Amino acid sequence: DFAPVEHRPLYGKKIVVTAGPTHEAIDPVRYIANRSSGRQGFAIAQAAAEMGAEVILIAGPVNLATPPGVIRWDVESAREMQAEVEKALPADAAIMVAAVADYRAADIADQKIKKKGAPPAPLPLTENPDILAMLARHAQRPKLLIGFAAETENVAEHAAQKLAKKGCDWIVANDVSGDVMGGSENSVHIVTKDGTESWPKAHKEVVARKLMEKIANVIGG
Ligand code: CTP
Ligand code: CA
Repeated sequence: DFAPVEHRPLYGKKIVVTAGPTHEAIDPVRYIANRSSGRQGFAIAQAAAEMGAEVILIAGPVNLATPPGVIRWDVESAREMQAEVEKALPADAAIMVAAVADYRAADIADQKIKKKGAPPAPLPLTENPDILAMLARHAQRPKLLIGFAAETENVAEHAAQKLAKKGCDWIVANDVSGDVMGGSENSVHIVTKDGTESWPKAHKEVVARKLMEKIANVIGG
């Protein structure tokens, strides 16, 4: 259900959200992936749509329904995700919630890799493009650019370093040392150039709405 227009502070704004893991092929039947469920990113896309924004959700492989009113583009790999993010520009804000694989196989085998009765060959990797850092330098950089950081230790400290390294405006740092990846709750720290806010642990939908309200305060109106 959508609120009347006067209660939709993001009406007329366009927001790009990435969500989920990426899958990086090794051969036709195997891939490198991670435990991201996509739930936090989908909840953010839903909250943005409920607040009236035009939302483009660029999703890696997840098992989730598209939130009402959200435009969804599905991708598999980091490189596909980067291409779709660029196609979605310009945007007023971009929220990069996806757990993008840092590395992919250097070569994708054309055929299924077979056992050869010998010790396994090493799997050479190469680095994926950094989509968030690319957006930060882009000619059509969104006015508000937000990264997520999943950390298992020194959460706020690592996030502050990431803010500087990536060139984004905020980092939403979550502590993934428990069952956060795939779980229903999230405990986050919002790191900006003005400092760090730590929010109480809450359901991902609650974190999403609170984050979108903070975003609306910057780009809304
Ligand atoms: N990200 C991205 N492209 C990548 C890797 C990360 O856009 N190739 C984005 C993520 O979507 C997230 C932010 O960058 O918004 C931080 O991701 P994270 O994995 O925490 O940062 P990394 O720079 O990859 O550092 P780390 O070595 O801790 O994984
Ligand atoms: Ca990473």
